[in-house]
Amino acid sequence: MDTRSSARRRSGFPTFRGSLVFWLILWMIFSKPCSVSSCPRLCICYPAPMTVSCQSQNFSNVPAGIPYDSQRVFLQNNRITELRAESFGFGTQVLWLYSNNITFIEPGAFSDLRDLEELDIGDNRNLRSLNPDIFRGLDKLQSLHMYRCQLGSLPGTIFQKLYSLQFLYLQDNNLHYLQDDLFADLVNLTHLFLHGNRIRVLSENVFRGLVNLDRLLLHENRIRQVSRKAFRDLGRLTILFLFNNTLSELPGPALNDLPSLQFLRLNGNPWSCGCEARPLWEWFRKVRVSSSELVCSTPEDKKGLDLRFLREIDFAPCPLPDLGLGKTTSTFSTKTRWWFPKSLNGNEQLKGIHGSKKKGSISSWDEAKPQPSSFYNKSPKIYSPKDAEESLPKIDTEEYWANYENEDATIRCFEEDCQNEGSFRNTGVRTGVPDLYKLALSLTVVMFFGRL
Ligand SMILES: *[C@@H]1O[C@H](CO)[C@@H](O)[C@H](O)[C@H]1NC(C)=O
Ligand SMILES: *[C@@H]1O[C@H](CO)[C@@H](O)[C@H](O)[C@H]1NC(C)=O
Ligand SMILES: *[C@@H]1O[C@H](CO)[C@@H](O)[C@H](O)[C@H]1NC(C)=O
Ligand SMILES: *[C@@H]1O[C@H](CO)[C@@H](O)[C@H](O)[C@H]1NC(C)=O
Repeated sequence: MDTRSSARRRSGFPTFRGSLVFWLILWMIFSKPCSVSSCPRLCICYPAPMTVSCQSQNFSNVPAGIPYDSQRVFLQNNRITELRAESFGFGTQVLWLYSNNITFIEPGAFSDLRDLEELDIGDNRNLRSLNPDIFRGLDKLQSLHMYRCQLGSLPGTIFQKLYSLQFLYLQDNNLHYLQDDLFADLVNLTHLFLHGNRIRVLSENVFRGLVNLDRLLLHENRIRQVSRKAFRDLGRLTILFLFNNTLSELPGPALNDLPSLQFLRLNGNPWSCGCEARPLWEWFRKVRVSSSELVCSTPEDKKGLDLRFLREIDFAPCPLPDLGLGKTTSTFSTKTRWWFPKSLNGNEQLKGIHGSKKKGSISSWDEAKPQPSSFYNKSPKIYSPKDAEESLPKIDTEEYWANYENEDATIRCFEEDCQNEGSFRNTGVRTGVPDLYKLALSLTVVMFFGRL
């Protein structure tokens, strides 16, 4: 009984050992060359997430042989001039094509990229126009980079149905005009960067639908006119930059549509501070917003003053406003100048404080900042820095001003790749490591069983 069963065990074992070795050898043959052969020449591939990095290789076309299951494909810093319908024979979530020389994108070029979440075609300085259907079907697209091209205009339907889009970077192009409802489907958009273009007018419906927008950068354009309804849907906007434009007026009602606004920059505009400025001045009196200065250009007697700190008496000759701000205006008197420290006396001193104002510090401004409207109906209140501090916006102002003018810095890397771009070459070594490891493991196992 005993001997029979042990004999059976002994005779069965070689079969088991043989098949194990057979499968291990098969696995070695097929698994190893596979991951090597599928990486295009001059590119570096590594797994988890499956990444194909072909940057800075002087490619003039999208290289063939990029594996279909690639999750990230990096093709930046090459000389690619055209994207064709057959260029992308793979599905990927992240596709970087920035800093090439793309001049033409054939309709349908991106239409197979159903899983695409991030597309960067920025810094292609000869890209002047785009087909209206170019992003059609990119249902999962969250981040779209088209900065620093030469886009002169955008087809009115180009962003249709991009419901997942959260970040849209269009800065530093030649855009001179934005159609009504251009962004109407972008319900999830939080960042819209349009600075460094040639936009002149913000019409009533230009930002319609952007109900989740958090920051809107429009500085360094040629904006001279803003519709009083232009910001109607932007109830969640916290940052608005309009500096370095040609605005002389901004309708008070437009800003009234921005209840969440925390940071506003309006400097570098030729503000006119006559009666037409009253709605804007009123608005500043009732909100709590960190703002840049607003230097008056006209009329002559107000030139150089800050619009925010004009006095009630400056508007004395003006007809009373009726712009939906009525309630608070009637309770003002020239005595209620409670927001300045007692020792200060109007614009001259304020200019003294702010004259040397540096980036990175808004404290001097905040000390002289108007209090919330709840104080309005009370008797003249003694200024207290503590109150001013408590009325600060909830965003971390230090952090905000530390990043001042760096708002368009966008994340160029993921997770462990974030040290620097050069490290992609090194991370490529990781392709080899698991294979060597696998080989050593297989040999050990084979030897172990072989000896039994
Ligand atoms: C890139 O390709 C062009 C033409 O194909 C060639 O003239 C140039 O020397 C190449 N540059 C590099 C850095 O290989
Ligand atoms: C970009 O491509 C255009 C033709 O499409 C060519 O004329 C131009 O020289 C290229 N620019 C660079 C920097 O390679
Ligand atoms: C907005 O994005 C969230 C998650 O990113 C998604 O669940 C939601 O469906 C999006 N909204 C629309 C209207 O697609
Ligand atoms: C605004 O424009 C002025 C004059 O054109 C320029 O000197 C200044 O640097 C600009 N400001 C910013 C923040 O770009």
